[in-house]
Amino acid sequence: GHVLVLAGGLSYEREVSLRSGRRVSEVLRATGIDVEARDTDASLVPSILADPPDAVFVTLHGGAGEDGAIRSVLELLDVPYVGADPDACRVAFDKPTAKAVVRSVGLRTPSSITLPKETFHDLGATAVLERIVDQLRLPLFVKPARGGSALGASIVRTAEELPAAMVGCFAYGDIALIERYVEGVEVAVSVVDVGDGPVALPAVEIVPDEGVYDYAARYTAGHTEFFAPARLSPAAAAACAETAVTAHTALGLRDISRTDLIVDATDTPYFLEVNVAPGMTETSLLPMAAEAAGQDLGDLCRALLQNAAN
Ligand code: DAL
Ligand code: MG
Repeated sequence: GHVLVLAGGLSYEREVSLRSGRRVSEVLRATGIDVEARDTDASLVPSILADPPDAVFVTLHGGAGEDGAIRSVLELLDVPYVGADPDACRVAFDKPTAKAVVRSVGLRTPSSITLPKETFHDLGATAVLERIVDQLRLPLFVKPARGGSALGASIVRTAEELPAAMVGCFAYGDIALIERYVEGVEVAVSVVDVGDGPVALPAVEIVPDEGVYDYAARYTAGHTEFFAPARLSPAAAAACAETAVTAHTALGLRDISRTDLIVDATDTPYFLEVNVAPGMTETSLLPMAAEAAGQDLGDLCRALLQNAAN
């Protein structure tokens, strides 16, 4: 048999996904597995029907790759895949909904307001923005409610910066999430489950050269300094691991996820978001976490596929 690595697709994170797909394919091939890697379009269905894979590794980021749509197709075709099912993806990929879920199980997440573009324009942009600044207080972080790789996301330190941040955000999606910006250490905690329950990999600390972990800082080698494991106190590291596993479980996720967090000055982790198809590129966080844990990425991906196929 063979396994299928799905990448590409039509989201804004297409290029990132192609890089993730290439990396996962390479490390899997190095373990001796027969890998078919393919871009994701309508030909997926006939090709799976003609030659069904033993399991699928989904490295599609954003849009259909993470909102559950592609996984619904895989369910329909009765092909096993690594990662959360469509319902869980739908909830997790929508940042405001995911925040509400994790808040309900006691995790901290920055206060926020969800604002659809229509509402923003109907209510009058200026009045709305004044109310938001009043309610949440500066600084703020603005991002699309359903997106990734920091596309359309920006920090707002003065009220004057907010309108441009909203325009930038609405370029990538019709619903904005406006959060209070928590100052602190940015970390990402990957969670993997190869059949023995969800386990947190070491937290990875993110220190972007220009201070902001934007698209360029994410995917240009050398633009960000990473510490794996993160330079956290043992108590803070444990709290981050617990937060990520709790989020993974509360959101009903499966096999693999990555929770992005800010640890504030009192060592308290704040949940920002969870990724159901974490980046797997050369500069991505889950591969760094696996390396810090002494795990070979190929062996890990292979174990996830085997577990999914069982
Ligand atoms: N959305 C990108 C791929 C990530 O979170 O790694
Ligand atoms: Mg993300």
